[in-house]
Amino acid sequence: MFPKGEEFFVASVRRHRDAVKDMPELRAQVKGFIGQEAMHSREHRHLNNRLHELGYNTVRADDMIGRICAKVLKMRPRRLAIAATAAAEHYTGLLAETALDHEPTRKILFGQEAVEPLICWHALEELEHKNVAFDVMVASGGRYPVRAAGFFVTTTALAGYVAVEWGRSVWQDRGKITRAHRRRFRRNLVRQRLISVHFAVEAFKYLKPGFHPDDTDTDALIEKWRIELADIAGPGKSSDPGAISATDSADPAGQTATV
Ligand SMILES: [Fe+2]
Ligand SMILES: [Fe+2]
Repeated sequence: MFPKGEEFFVASVRRHRDAVKDMPELRAQVKGFIGQEAMHSREHRHLNNRLHELGYNTVRADDMIGRICAKVLKMRPRRLAIAATAAAEHYTGLLAETALDHEPTRKILFGQEAVEPLICWHALEELEHKNVAFDVMVASGGRYPVRAAGFFVTTTALAGYVAVEWGRSVWQDRGKITRAHRRRFRRNLVRQRLISVHFAVEAFKYLKPGFHPDDTDTDALIEKWRIELADIAGPGKSSDPGAISATDSADPAGQTATV
């Protein structure tokens, strides 16, 4: 989902650059946001290409997300795209917090050796810039109705897309699914925290009138993972593309100080 989604985030934020031109701090954060999302998009494209070689339908998934994003960019009001982006960033922030803070969730969903460092790097940067799209939306004049509409658009697209793609994958592999797979699935479903009541409650807090992404303090988690990732990406530690990009990441606003 990421490459086209992140291109959409960048396009939505760029659309309202003028609204932040007199706000130096937010302007710098926007620059950092665009740099980070561009790097995420690039690294996830590498991963998707590899997954495609292994037989996963990443091209089809990319096309579908691209079509959804293109539609949202054309919708009225023009602020809807930044509102959908702010909501999507709320979801990526929650996903990031859950993946970094809850080891069983991380291991179940992203435990594959070559994928985990990429996801952790991405998650860390999502936490670093979790306020940016929201603040740009507010600076552009986006008030509660457009915020709620953006949340509705993103939640519908995200839930619908994930359900459809997951269903397709399971259907495609239906002949290979054994009783042991089903048992493991049920066990993992209980252990992970991404599909959970807690996650849904956190997601819907976005609709509280006074909500702001910084309401949840994730600074200690960010600090912990900066150190962890610096260690993973250290010389000779890993040849994983995500780990390598953690050291190379473009970071114009200096948000990722140590990875
Ligand atoms: Fe991202
Ligand atoms: Fe992001």
